[in-house]
Amino acid sequence: MERRKVIIDCDPGIDDSLAIMLALKSEEIEVIGITIVCGNAPVEMGFGNAKKVLRQMGRLDVPIFVGEKRPVRREYVNALDTHGEDGLGESYLSEVDGYEQQMDAVDFMASVLKAEKVSVIALGPMTNLAVLIDRAMDAFLNIEELVSMGGTFKSHGNCSPVAEYNYWCDPDAAALVYDTMYENGKKIHMIGLDVTRKIVLTPTILEYICRLNPETGDFIRKITKFYFDFHWQWEHIIGCVINDPLTVAYFIDRNICQGFDSYVQIETQGISLGQSVVDSMNFYRKEANAKVMTEVDVLRFFRLFLSRILDVKPEELDILQDII
Ligand code: BDR
Ligand code: CA
Repeated sequence: MERRKVIIDCDPGIDDSLAIMLALKSEEIEVIGITIVCGNAPVEMGFGNAKKVLRQMGRLDVPIFVGEKRPVRREYVNALDTHGEDGLGESYLSEVDGYEQQMDAVDFMASVLKAEKVSVIALGPMTNLAVLIDRAMDAFLNIEELVSMGGTFKSHGNCSPVAEYNYWCDPDAAALVYDTMYENGKKIHMIGLDVTRKIVLTPTILEYICRLNPETGDFIRKITKFYFDFHWQWEHIIGCVINDPLTVAYFIDRNICQGFDSYVQIETQGISLGQSVVDSMNFYRKEANAKVMTEVDVLRFFRLFLSRILDVKPEELDILQDII
C-alpha cells in the first residue's frame, strides 16, 4: 500500500492527542512530522504534550517542531479552560526529557514541501500556515491536500455564537489561508462543527475502550476526565466532543463525511470574528475554495478510530453499533 505523507499541524490538546494516536496507527499515512502551533495550549506546552503522546505510542522517533507562539495580529487566547491547565486534561503525566528539534515548524514545512508533495492535516489555529504563506508561498502551494478542523456552517460556534475556536483564535491566519486557496484555484477540506459535534465520546464508549485495551483505555481515561466535566458544565452533554480525530479519519476514509463545494471567507472583525461565512447559495459568484463537510457516518468513524487505536479488528467491535 502506498502511504501518503502527512504533516500534522496541531495544538495538543486532548482531542489533538487522540488524533495523533489515530494517525500513528493508520497504515494509509506516514506522519513525517508534527508541527505545534499556539492554540489550546501555548506552544511549549503543546510540544511537551505531543512528546507525551509519542511516548505513550512508543513513537518518539517522529519529529516534532515548535511553531508560532502567538496569532499573526490578535492577542493570543488559549483554551486551557477546556483542556485543563496542563493542556492534557490535568492528567499531569511526567514530562519527556531530551528531545530537541533544531528547526522551527514553518521552516520544517517549507523544506519538505519544496522537495515533495505532502499533505497537511491542520488541527489547530492556522498561524503556522499563514506564516508559511508569507515565508514560502511556493511551499504552501505545493501542499498536496489541506484538511482543516475548523469553522462551522449551520451549527453554532463553540467560543462565540458563530465562531469555532481554531478560526476564532487566529482569524487573520484562517482568512489568509482561505483567500490564498481561492486565489490559486485550490480547495481546503473544512471539517467543522457541523460534523465534529456529532462525534461524542460517551462514558459507555470509554468503558468499552478500557475493556478492549486496558492500557490505551487508561491513558484515554486520564486525559479525557477533565474534558467530560467541562462538557457537562458548559454544554450539558454526558461525554465529550472529540473534533480532531474525525479530521484524521476523514483524511483516511472519504466516506466518513459528505459535504459540498463552496466559497468560504473568514471574518476578521466585529461580533462575528472568526466566523466561516459559507456562500452555499453562491451569492458572491465566486469559485469554491472549500469542501464543506455537513454529514458524518458516526458508526463508520468509531469503527475506524477504535479498531486502529485499540489494535482490534473492525469486526471484533461487536457491540459498537448498540452503544453509539
Ligand atoms: C477545536 O478547538 C480545539 O479546542 C480542539 O482541539 C479542536 O481542534 C474545536 O473547536
Ligand atoms: Ca486542536
